[in-house]
Formats: sequence, C-alpha cells, structure tokens
Amino acid sequence: MRETPKTADLIVFGGTGDLSMRKLLPALYHCDRDGLLAPETRIIALSRGGLDDADFRGKVDAEVRASMPLDVPAERGLWQRFLDRLHHVTVDVSGVSDEDSPGWRRLGGLLAGHERRDRVFYLASPPMTFGPFCREAHRAGLVTPSSRVVLEKPLGRDLASARHINDEVGAIFRERQIFRIDHYLGKETVQNLLVLRFANAFLEPIWNSLWIDHIQITVAETVGTPGRRGYYDHAGALRDMVQNHLLQLLCLVAMEPPARNDRESIRDEKVKVLEALRPITGGEVNRFTVRGQYTAGESGGAPVPGYLDEPDGTPPTEASHRVETFAAIRAEVKNWRWAGVPFYLRTGKRMPYRCSEIVVQFKDVPHSIFPGSAPNRLVLRLQPSEGIRLHVMAKEPGAGEVALQPVPLSLSFADTFSGRAPDAYERLLMDVLAGNPTLFMRRDEVEAAWRWIDPILQAWEAQDTLPEPYPAGTPGPAGAHELLGRSGRAWHEEDADE
Ligand code: BG6
Repeated sequence: MRETPKTADLIVFGGTGDLSMRKLLPALYHCDRDGLLAPETRIIALSRGGLDDADFRGKVDAEVRASMPLDVPAERGLWQRFLDRLHHVTVDVSGVSDEDSPGWRRLGGLLAGHERRDRVFYLASPPMTFGPFCREAHRAGLVTPSSRVVLEKPLGRDLASARHINDEVGAIFRERQIFRIDHYLGKETVQNLLVLRFANAFLEPIWNSLWIDHIQITVAETVGTPGRRGYYDHAGALRDMVQNHLLQLLCLVAMEPPARNDRESIRDEKVKVLEALRPITGGEVNRFTVRGQYTAGESGGAPVPGYLDEPDGTPPTEASHRVETFAAIRAEVKNWRWAGVPFYLRTGKRMPYRCSEIVVQFKDVPHSIFPGSAPNRLVLRLQPSEGIRLHVMAKEPGAGEVALQPVPLSLSFADTFSGRAPDAYERLLMDVLAGNPTLFMRRDEVEAAWRWIDPILQAWEAQDTLPEPYPAGTPGPAGAHELLGRSGRAWHEEDADE
C-alpha cells in the first residue's frame, strides 16, 4: 500500500528553464494527478524572470499544458489544482544575490512557519551555481534539518571541479540530504535490469566472462544540438552522456548482486564497478576511444546542418570545432567476473535512429554440430519500444539438411504492461519527496566516474586533431566501427535482428 504523501515545499532553482518546463513540471503534474502530492504541497520556482505567481501560472498553462496530452475536460479541475500549487520568486540565478535582496526575503516569507514540512531545493541550474545557492539559502536561514537538495547533472567538468562542488554543497548539507540525479536511473527499463538480473535465477550463473563475449551499451539520439551550443561546446558527449548515463548503465550490468535492495547496498556495489574500471591513459586513449562530430546530413528524411552550422545565435568558436558529439570507448572491468570481457560504450547525436540499449553478446557453443549456428544475444532495449529480447538458435522447419536460424524470445513491456509508462523524473521526484536516495548517486560514485573519465578528457584536449566527422544520419565515424572491427566484432544496429 502506498504511504500517504507528506506535505512538502519544492523549491526549483532555474524554475522557468528548459528542464523545469519540459520535464519537472509535467512530471509533477502527473504525480499530482495520480494522488502522489499532498493537498498543501507547493512548488516554488525561482528564476530571474521577474514574474509574479499569476504570470508564472499563465506561462506554465500556456507552455507546459501545450506539451502534454491532457484529457480535457476530465482533467481541467486537476490541472487547475496543479496550477494553484505554483509560485514564483525572482532570484538571480547567474550571480546569486545576497540574502537582503527582495527575492530571498520573499522566499523566506513564503517558507516561514512551514519549517516542519519536507523542504526540497531542486537545483536545475548550471553546476557553478550549486555552491553559492546552498550558501545563500543557508545564510537566509532556509535550510532546515530535514531539507534535501537535488543536484542536476553535470556535476562539474572534471574530478577537481566535482570535488569542489561536493565540498561546497557538503558544507551546508549532509550527504544523506544530497540527491545527485541521473534521470537514466529513473527509467522503468533501467530498474527492470536489476529485477531481470536479481529476481531470476537463470541468468546469474552465466553472467560472467566464461559465457559472455562482450557487452555493448548504446545511447543513440536522432536529435542534434540546435540552440544548445553554449552548453554543448563545453560539455561534449563524454561529459554530457558517458560520465553519467552510460557509466550508470555499465554499473548496473556489471555489479555484483547486492545483499539488500536498500539505499547503500546497491550504491556500494556500483562504486566497486567504477573503481574496477581499467584506466585508459596516454597512448591507449587513441586505441580505445573514438570521438566524432556530425557534419551536414539527413535526419528523418530531411536535410540537417552539421554541428558547426546549427542555428544558435552565435558563431562557432574554437571549442565548437573541438567538441565531440559522438563518443565510443572500449572499457574493461578488472575483476574476477569480467576479466577479458570488453564493454563497448557508444553515444551520439544525429544518429540514424533513436535507441538506447544494452546488448549482451554470449560466446558461441563450445562445439557446434550444426553448420550456421550463431552465438546467443540478449538485447535490453531501454527506449523506444522498451523490452527484452533473447536471440536463440532454432531449426528452420522442413525436411532435409538441418538449417538454423536465430529467432527472438521477445518481451515487450508495452504489450505486457498496459497503461502509461511514467517518465523517469516522476519516479525520481517522488523518491526525493519520500527521502529515498537509492536511485541517486553518492559522492564517491560521481567522483569515481570522473576519475576514470578525466585521463580520456585530458588526452582528447591535448590532441591537435579534431573529432572524426560523420554525416548526420549515419551511425558515427569510421573509427567507431574499427574499435570493434579489429577484434572481429561489430556494433549491434537497430533492426539487425528483425
Ligand atoms: C541529457 C543530456 O542528460 O540526456 C541530453 O544532457 C540528452 O544531451 C538527454 O539528449 C537524453 O535523455 P533521454 O532520456 O532522452 O535519453
């Protein structure tokens, strides 16, 4: 049975920004509609916008509702109830104002008398504002013993900056109050990966280097980066996707069975995986990593510009030329279970299809008595068309020579579990309100991920060469195919098994 939701004040710093409008507010509405928010719970957006509550509610009504398929008029009352929860306070998000500014005073006034409620500060703002925001909130006397703070990725640009941010936030909040979000961990299929591995007995005995040849983790996107160059030039695929989303997936695939499904056991096991990653340094960086940047090409049948020509309002800079929109890495987890099993990671913008998946490629049978047999493959599709497919060999019907064919044993989540699949942010926001940090990253986890990424970043930054070009609408640069091709392997491409 679901617990009765507790009243909370959710304060979103960067509350009118892209993430808030596109993800957080729709997710909160859906939670509200499903009865997961207490009647008195408030959502207080902070931004530089100079809006009052009515302006903000109008903006959300116009922009957020337009992006959601609401069952109007059935949901009209629910939507109005949600709008009534919203408040807006003008606080400068770039510099961070002092506590005497009208914004902090107004926020203090709104929160006064509600100290016993759960109070959540959600920082949907650039990482350099995390420390200053926490200090200001503390100085303004707004941080209560039960307050929590949610930090959006990216947490820093490298290990040193991540540590600095963690120190700054840690000076105000205790570790148990800090929720570092990686929305991939809130995806249904990602959680299902743990269930698949640890609630079924048949996989565990073969989940190791004796039976598995290699593992591929792909997050391919068709979108480019129009209007995002300001952020992306200084992030790139390695910081934006690999350091967090792809490494989190790798951890869940590679971790040992935890003793319990609780807040520390799972995170303890994930950290061990990150610490077992073999460092890729010096000359190995060229051998084991590939970076690419998309050039003009096609997406969805229409011509699209290259990264450097994306409409952005500002001309490309030196950083734009050097930044990668595609990254591929051959990683290794150095422990008993995984010794010798390569983990191939790949992510890119403007790929030919949108697909996030984990492919577990098993070894071939030790001795084949049939011609044409092929090794088994388990494909865990995270998005779209979430599901699990196990490719097994079967005999083609007919007399005469035995002919084999790989056929999928297929589980489609959409077909099996009807109903709307909740967005990752719904799950994660409810976990924050419930004070459950299991699906959030601990400080040591984030820092271990940066420790592995840093030498790759440094080597890339020191290179004279630019990322390898690949036309938009193609599956990455040639180097990515060589990364597997030199050991006789190939990337699993969408529809390869249809
Ligand atoms: C975000 C990245 O974290 O994840 C974006 O900043 C990326 O660049 C997005 O597009 C992908 O998320 P999803 O849920 O659409 O796979």
